[in-house]
Amino acid sequence: MGGHTVAVSDLTGGPIPTHVACVMDGNGRWAARRGLARTEGHAAGEAALLDAVEGALDLGIPWITMYAFSTENWRRPADEVRYLMGFNESLLVRRRDELHQKGVRIRFAGRRDWRVPKRVLRRMDESMELTAGNRRTTLTMAFNYGGRAEIVDAVRSLVADGVAPDKVNEKSIRSRLYYPDQPDPDLVIRTSGEHRISNFLLWQLAYSELVFDDVLWPDFRRGHLFEAVRDFQRRQRRYGGVT
Ligand code: FPP
Repeated sequence: MGGHTVAVSDLTGGPIPTHVACVMDGNGRWAARRGLARTEGHAAGEAALLDAVEGALDLGIPWITMYAFSTENWRRPADEVRYLMGFNESLLVRRRDELHQKGVRIRFAGRRDWRVPKRVLRRMDESMELTAGNRRTTLTMAFNYGGRAEIVDAVRSLVADGVAPDKVNEKSIRSRLYYPDQPDPDLVIRTSGEHRISNFLLWQLAYSELVFDDVLWPDFRRGHLFEAVRDFQRRQRRYGGVT
């Protein structure tokens, strides 16, 4: 992959995924190749993120989820963690009006624990409030997010409510996920040539189609999304059955 040869009109005859989720990987390597600090790679990832959202709007994809910070990313050097917190905040301040105008509903999935600075939480809340009425697409930023943590949180909430063991089932667990209204991803894209899930949406991606692209995240543009959707359209989804 890597070319930009697929146009929107090539895709409109086939199924458009309802929910596309992205692991935005490779910012650090993109920066290292240029002799830049890792944080410069994250900064360059902003344009890729915005272009991917534009591409989703072009295709009419109603749900997009982007992995912006994982529960494991706290292990990174303190200055990179600090940068990513501040970057989330500044990105919201700089981009929320334009996303709002485009009809994007912004949401955040993840733990709101003490490690996320109050100021950052406030910007997240403001952005969610501002855009809550939009329905053209829902952009969920997975931030301080872990798939296992989400399942733990769901089970904790069932236990806290005294739900009986025989009422603990797939339906009740799903109802306690961060966003029970969100359909499971049809398509997951991971960039930078890594072939891992890395604790992303573990419950939700049971039947997702996975597309791996060698492009480093800062170089990702909507054309890469279109290619991934073309790959998706060529696959046969059987959900454990036969065709
Ligand atoms: C993975 O690249 C990327 C991240 C951990 C952050 C992704 C975030 C963005 C693209 C911008 C949006 C971010 C926020 C906080 C709103 P990496 O650093 O793991 O790269 P590497 O694998 O090459 O080291």
